Amino acid sequence: MIFELTEEHLTVQKAARDFANEVLKPGVIERDNLQKFPKEEIKALGQLGFLGMMVNPKYGGGGMDAISYVLAMEEISKVDASASVVMSVNNSLVCWGLEQFGTEDQKMKYLVPLAKGEVIGAFCLSEPEAGSDATSQRTTAIDKGDYYLLNGTKNWITNGGTASVYLVIAQTHAEKGHKGINAFIVEKGMPGFVVGKKEDKLGIRGSDTHSLMFTDVKVPRANRIGEDGFGFKFAMKTLTGGRIGIASQALGIASGAYELALAYSRERKAFGKTISQHQAIQFKLADMATEIEAARLLCIKAAWLKDKGLDYATASAMAKLFASRVAMETTVEAVQIHGGYGFVKEYHVERLMRDAKITQIYEGTSEVQKIVISRAVLA
Ligand code: CAA
Repeated sequence: MIFELTEEHLTVQKAARDFANEVLKPGVIERDNLQKFPKEEIKALGQLGFLGMMVNPKYGGGGMDAISYVLAMEEISKVDASASVVMSVNNSLVCWGLEQFGTEDQKMKYLVPLAKGEVIGAFCLSEPEAGSDATSQRTTAIDKGDYYLLNGTKNWITNGGTASVYLVIAQTHAEKGHKGINAFIVEKGMPGFVVGKKEDKLGIRGSDTHSLMFTDVKVPRANRIGEDGFGFKFAMKTLTGGRIGIASQALGIASGAYELALAYSRERKAFGKTISQHQAIQFKLADMATEIEAARLLCIKAAWLKDKGLDYATASAMAKLFASRVAMETTVEAVQIHGGYGFVKEYHVERLMRDAKITQIYEGTSEVQKIVISRAVLA
């Protein structure tokens, strides 16, 4: 077992860190305040190859491994979790799903611009009454021969307003349960497809989360992904990789807050010495550093399994479960270390604390991760 990053890993990590500090950091507080999507910043992220990192270069991607993806996600998330969720969804849920299961025509038409970051994608599974219970899809896609007729509503869709390509999960044969579900590529602008209201969120406020409405949308048969009835497995397989992305986002939120708290503790004086010289703060920093390191190892282990072509479903669920808990706990402690300064926006840690919460909810709540893990350990 070798705990060492390659030269390539270190280069990717540095490029992501520099981008985060130079491009994302200056406007991150304003974007959070105004709920402003980082449009120009995401365009620049795409030009650097961070939106299709793992896609084969023949489809416009960076051909990198999943470990590089974890490292880049951590660095971007340290500074701007709103930007990193765009990156995570585009890489893991949209590009990966299309590359693995799309036809050659689908890849050429949709994957290439997505991997190059020329357009952004969205993954549409959640519904008003189908969150954790993803098999209960109410959106229907009725087979009409050359096309499917799509009707229904999707909720909490990341990149909902800004995406051009949407992977939509829908029920085709209700009597077959999860085996009757399909996944479709839907384009913005298809008649009957309406982007609904933008959500006003606690955290990741710069990201663009919408409901989507589909009324008699004619989706060409050629836009179905995989065999008839493959949609639920498509969603599960895609989310399995997506959980590595969100685990890495949680890791980045935690390590970003920790680094701010560490630096602050060295500057701030109380009772005649820096607060880093008080054992109460030292013990907090020791816990934070240890938990972040454990979360990082879980993320990298899951990515390593994926890179090796081994089963990573349990590992990605463990990484997400643990890293999201660490993100929540670490950011709360980072605010505490900052005292009153931690409660104001200028110091960044309150935003990281708000951003942390979503990592315990999206791409499967912590409870969903526990279902996945407990089924594996009891099998
Ligand atoms: N890989 C491949 N196949 C899988 C799988 C996986 N990881 N997990 C399940 N399956 C297959 C099973 O093998 C089974 O197939 P068979 O019937 O052929 O054996 C089928 O899928 C059904 O599986 P389950 O019986 O385990 O399904 P379940 O109803 O018990 O649900 C669950 C399990 C883990 C709770 C699942 O529903 C789930 O993951 N729910 C959470 C959904 C989720 O993550 N939503 C997030 C929305 S997307 C998002 O948040 C993106 C964003 O905007 C940031």
